[in-house]
Amino acid sequence: MKKHWWQEGVVYQIYPRSFQDSNADGVGDLRGILDRVDYLSDLGVTAVWLSPVYPSPNVDNGYDVADYQCIAPQFGTLQDWDALCAALHARGIRVIMDWVVNHSSDEHPWFAESAASRENAKADYYIWRDPVNGGVPNNWRSCWGGSAWEYVPARGQYYLHLFSKKQPDLNWACAEMREKIYDMMEWWVQRGVDGFRVDAISYLDKPADFPDAAGEAESDGYVLCMNQLTGREKTHVYIHGMQQRLKKYGDVLMIGEVVARDQAHMRRYIAPQCEEFSMAIPFVPPIVEINTWSPAALLRRVAQDWSQTDCGAWWARFLSNHDKPRQVSLYANDGEYWEQSAKMLAAFLYTLPGTPFLYQGEELGMTNVSYAALEDYDDIDTKTFFESLVLGGTSRQEAFALAKKVSRDNARTPMQWDESPNAGFSAGTPWLGVNPNYRRINARAQRKDPLSVWSFYRRLIALRKENPALIYGDFTPLCDPAQEDVLLYTRSFGQETWLVVHNWSALPHNMPEEFAGLGQPLLSGSERQGGYTAGKLRPYETAIWKLKISQKNDEISMITA
Ligand code: GLC
Repeated sequence: MKKHWWQEGVVYQIYPRSFQDSNADGVGDLRGILDRVDYLSDLGVTAVWLSPVYPSPNVDNGYDVADYQCIAPQFGTLQDWDALCAALHARGIRVIMDWVVNHSSDEHPWFAESAASRENAKADYYIWRDPVNGGVPNNWRSCWGGSAWEYVPARGQYYLHLFSKKQPDLNWACAEMREKIYDMMEWWVQRGVDGFRVDAISYLDKPADFPDAAGEAESDGYVLCMNQLTGREKTHVYIHGMQQRLKKYGDVLMIGEVVARDQAHMRRYIAPQCEEFSMAIPFVPPIVEINTWSPAALLRRVAQDWSQTDCGAWWARFLSNHDKPRQVSLYANDGEYWEQSAKMLAAFLYTLPGTPFLYQGEELGMTNVSYAALEDYDDIDTKTFFESLVLGGTSRQEAFALAKKVSRDNARTPMQWDESPNAGFSAGTPWLGVNPNYRRINARAQRKDPLSVWSFYRRLIALRKENPALIYGDFTPLCDPAQEDVLLYTRSFGQETWLVVHNWSALPHNMPEEFAGLGQPLLSGSERQGGYTAGKLRPYETAIWKLKISQKNDEISMITA
C-alpha cells in the first residue's frame, strides 16, 4: 500500500468560535488560535482542521458560506490566516479547511444574482423549479423541518435547500459553477492548505425530475429525502473532478463527510483507484449512532471497515466532532468514572486502524453542558429538533430534556483553558455559556498532572507516532460474545503483536483467561487507581501490551518494553 502523510497523522479539529478569543468580543478567532499553536504542538497533533471561518450570516455557524475566499471579520483577516498557516507549518502541523459546497449561504453574491431573475449570468447556479399545482415542487423535507423548497417571487420559482432555507443547494449540474468551486479549491491549496474536509457531500447530484421521496411523512407533512439522494452517479463524477484538479499539487488530503447506502457503496468513495476521497467521515447503515450504539456495535463497525482493506481504503476515526454531544458523556461516564472512561475512549480510538480525529477539548475529557433554558442554546439543530418534538405531541419539558441530551452545543461550549473567568477563553462575554465545570476540568491543571486525561492523550499520540503497528498493523477482534462490554483486539505488524483491552463498563470484569497471566501493560488507564492488576479489569480499565509470538512453540509471550 502506498503510504501517505495523513495516515500517520492525528487531526485536531478546531471549532474556531469556541477555541480562543483574542479581542474580547466573545467569539474565538484566528489570532486566538495563533496564540495556542504551541499547545497543539506540545500535544503532538500533526494536522489541524478548521471548521468554517468564512464570512457567513451564521445560521448554521459558518456552514452557510457567503464568500469562499475570505475570512469572516469576527475571525480575522486573510493575513491572520496566512500567519496561522505559517505558524502551524513551522511546527510540522498541516492545515485542513472545511469545504461546504453542497450549499452556500443565501447571502452569497451568487445567490442574490441568481434569485433576481430567470435570465442572469448566475441563473443556473442554484436549483430552481416552477411551482407544481400552485405549490412546492415535491414532498422533500429539509433536514431541519418543513419543505425543502422556498418560493422567490422575483423568479416565480422555488429554490431547493436540503438544509435551512438560508442554505440554498448549489446546482452542480452547472459546469461553470462547478469549475469555479474547483478554482477556489486550487486557490486555497496555492495559499498553503494541505487538505479539505468536504461537508455533506453525498447529495451533489439531484434527479432532474425531482420525484416525491418514498416513505412516511414527518409531523410537518414532508419526507426526508437525503438517504435516497446519496451517491448518485454524477455525484461521484463531481467529487472525482475535485481530485483531478488537485492532483498536480501532490498529496492533498480529501476527507469526505459521506452518507453511503452500504459498505460496498462506501468503497466507491474511498477506494484509492476511484480517486475521490482519501478517507471518509462515514454514515453507513447500520448507523452506530446516539440511540443505537453499544461498545460491541462500535467494534463490529471497525471490523466491517477493516474488511475493506483489500481495496486499499483508509478511515477517519472519531468519536467526537462539532455535530455530536461530548464523547465521555455520550459513550462513557462523565460522573464517578469520568477520568478513567475518558482515557479508555482515547485508547480505543488511538489503537484502531485509521487516522484519529481529536475534537477540541476531548483531550481534557470535556463533558456535556446543561443550560437552564432553550434560549441559552444557540444551535439551529437543537431548536428545530425541539420544535418538531413539540409539534409531534411531546410535552415541552420532555422535548427540552431530549433536545439537550443530543444538542450539538454540548460540544461547542468554549474551550476550558484554565480556572480564570470564562475558563480563559475570552475576556468578554462568550457567545455560548462556558461549562461551569471548568474549574475542575481545564488545560492548565491537566498539563501539570502526569496522570491527567491530557497527559494520557499526549502519551497515546506519541505511542502511535513511534509504532507502525498501531498505524499499519492488521486488526483482529478477539471479543468474547459473552462479555459484550469487554473489547479485546490485536494489531499485528511484522513480528509485533499489540494487544488492547477495554472494559467499557462501570463494573469490574476479569481479563479473558488466555491473557490473564500477562504482566504490567505498556500503557494503562488506571495508574491513578494503582495500575493494572493481573487478570482483573477495573471499571473502564484500558490497557495496551506489546507482545511477540515466541518462535519456539507459537505461544504468546510478552516483550518487556
Ligand atoms: C455537516 C456539518 C454540520 C452542518 C451541515 C450542513 O453535516 O458538519 O455542522 O450543519 O453539514 O452544512
